[in-house]
Amino acid sequence: MATTLSVQQNLELLGKYRWCEIQMMELMGSWAYTIVDPEIKIGFGRQMYQDAVHADLLGKRIPELKGRSARFHEIPPADDVIRLFEKVWRAEGDLHRMTALAMVLKSALLEAYESHIRMAELPADEPTAYILRHIADEERDHRAWGEKIIARLGGAGETRAAASRWAEELKADLHAAGGILGEGKPRGTYTFRKTHPHSTHPVRDERWDIIMDPGQFTEKNWSFDTQEGKTRLLHDLLNSEFITVERMGRIIADFPGIPWQMKMDMVHQAWDEARHAEIVQRRLEELGGHVGMYRTSCWGWEQDVNRPDPLERLALSNMTFESESCKHLRDWILKAKEGNDERSLQLLEFLLADEVNHVLYGVHWIDELTRDDPERRKRVLHYPEQVLAGNHPVGVRFNETINAR
Ligand SMILES: [Fe+2]
Ligand SMILES: [Fe+2]
Repeated sequence: MATTLSVQQNLELLGKYRWCEIQMMELMGSWAYTIVDPEIKIGFGRQMYQDAVHADLLGKRIPELKGRSARFHEIPPADDVIRLFEKVWRAEGDLHRMTALAMVLKSALLEAYESHIRMAELPADEPTAYILRHIADEERDHRAWGEKIIARLGGAGETRAAASRWAEELKADLHAAGGILGEGKPRGTYTFRKTHPHSTHPVRDERWDIIMDPGQFTEKNWSFDTQEGKTRLLHDLLNSEFITVERMGRIIADFPGIPWQMKMDMVHQAWDEARHAEIVQRRLEELGGHVGMYRTSCWGWEQDVNRPDPLERLALSNMTFESESCKHLRDWILKAKEGNDERSLQLLEFLLADEVNHVLYGVHWIDELTRDDPERRKRVLHYPEQVLAGNHPVGVRFNETINAR
């Protein structure tokens, strides 16, 4: 019996790994806006991107192994494995979700990668081993991070016991399904969609006080040249960074059919915003502020994530709100310079560099995907005006809308 893997065995396995990575990326994207714990939200922003990179690396190796046809690129393992992912997707609560993702699914995939690396035909298949070692290292980090979160969330007693029972139940399901690769079972054909109900605003922990009437929201009127102005503006920005991780996650989960490069851009943005949230919170705290010190607003969320066309979401949020945000950042940078606030200046310049790209993602994908569809382009580009014609928060100025393109 062969102890190393053939080209054909590799192809089948890589296609299945890629399916698993994409499913995990979508699970995190789907969950992010209903996750209470901000550390998990930030972790999801980062890991959505890393799982997409894993899928991307696998996707580059597959054609090198003569898997040029699209059918090799994403192979569903077995129907029972797909049903298990569906069961996990429906799980409620941060602890159950983290347990399922980190301790069951990611753990099983990591074991598959480790066994593959041991069985790689070397040096003939060094390119596969090379990428799998990189992917396995990151998955090991994801699992360790998950373990740390679970230990914090689980506390003691009944909560911890319930999470352990849930993990055991899933492991038994996984075993019956032939493991995460569905070994010995026919490839899966069952499909499920990660659909979401109408959403009025994303979930926040108890520290946040969200204003529901946009007319009461005046934070944007503050200026970055006073201590209070800085904490007000950074506090509001922190919430916006979380919102953007969450809305990028929703695009990934809601539209599995968008081009792969567009997905890569959306998850890159999720990662950027996750880092921004960390950076902004740290600066807020350095300036003596803290989460929940002011009221804030999630205005625009409802008009974004409930739109059935992803390009309308990008026209509204990337090309309008984020374009507006670039103008604000430029103004803050100027004020930080004038006030010799070197620390804020350094961070704001990194933030602005990323935000400029986010506006461009919107411009590029709208242009690319509506090139042969003038009706859609017109509708998409008109959407922000339609939203802004209604009520919007005091102090939010949209004098340069997307028509300026
Ligand atoms: Fe940001
Ligand atoms: Fe952004």
